[in-house]
Amino acid sequence: MAWTERQRAMLREMGIELWPGATVTSPPLQPPAAAAQGAAPAPVPPGAPAAPSPATSRGDVATMDWPALRAAVAACQACALAQSRRQTVFGVGHERAHWMIVGEAPGEQEDLKGEPFVGPAGRLLDAMLDALGLTREPGPPERQVYIANTLKCRPPGNRNPLPEEMARCEPFLVRQIQLVRPRILLAMGRFAVQALLRTDEPIGRLRGRVHRYQGVPLVVTYHPAYLLRQPADKAKAWDDLCLAAEVLEGQGAAGA
Ligand code: URA
Repeated sequence: MAWTERQRAMLREMGIELWPGATVTSPPLQPPAAAAQGAAPAPVPPGAPAAPSPATSRGDVATMDWPALRAAVAACQACALAQSRRQTVFGVGHERAHWMIVGEAPGEQEDLKGEPFVGPAGRLLDAMLDALGLTREPGPPERQVYIANTLKCRPPGNRNPLPEEMARCEPFLVRQIQLVRPRILLAMGRFAVQALLRTDEPIGRLRGRVHRYQGVPLVVTYHPAYLLRQPADKAKAWDDLCLAAEVLEGQGAAGA
């Protein structure tokens, strides 16, 4: 892969130095069949989100179009977070994006602005995306990503999501993924991983290979907020992004 000056600048911002002519290595891509076999969803561990409760497993969420889903999220009162939020944070990006990024939950900035990943972690995420030629800004579906969170409301004080909250919010994320129909899913952090892969295995054990969520290839990586605290792991996150990009490129080659 040849890097433009802009991408090099973004990589530097991520703390990843490239030497002239360098290519960035990533783990070998498993063939989809092998990847799928290796990624059989683990049984739901204790403490992982329970199955959606009747309050949010409403059949209508599963059939909603974008406007209906947006309205349902905005009006949601399914858990106590509805009382403390300023506003819901639905998601942003291309509605048929090739890349879909799933994070954890809105923080203070997101709760204020109504958009995911707009605080410090979001700036790092934008830099990571930019380094791959991706953006949340309007563009074609191969360039403009879709970003959503596992929870649509801010947990007070940015505490961790509760299993009950994740269970109640899950149908919204499921429907977003069904509507976007991404070619690659990037699960950032342990709550996104719990929601999508039903496992509480540590990120370090799940990254570096291709999983599947409802048939969509899924790559696990560290949450940008974690990377801000542990910059030494940015290089691993970059490997994860490169793995995701390779999966997409492989799809293009397969379809050619
Ligand atoms: N962290 C997340 O996981 N999502 C956001 O929207 C902001 C911070």
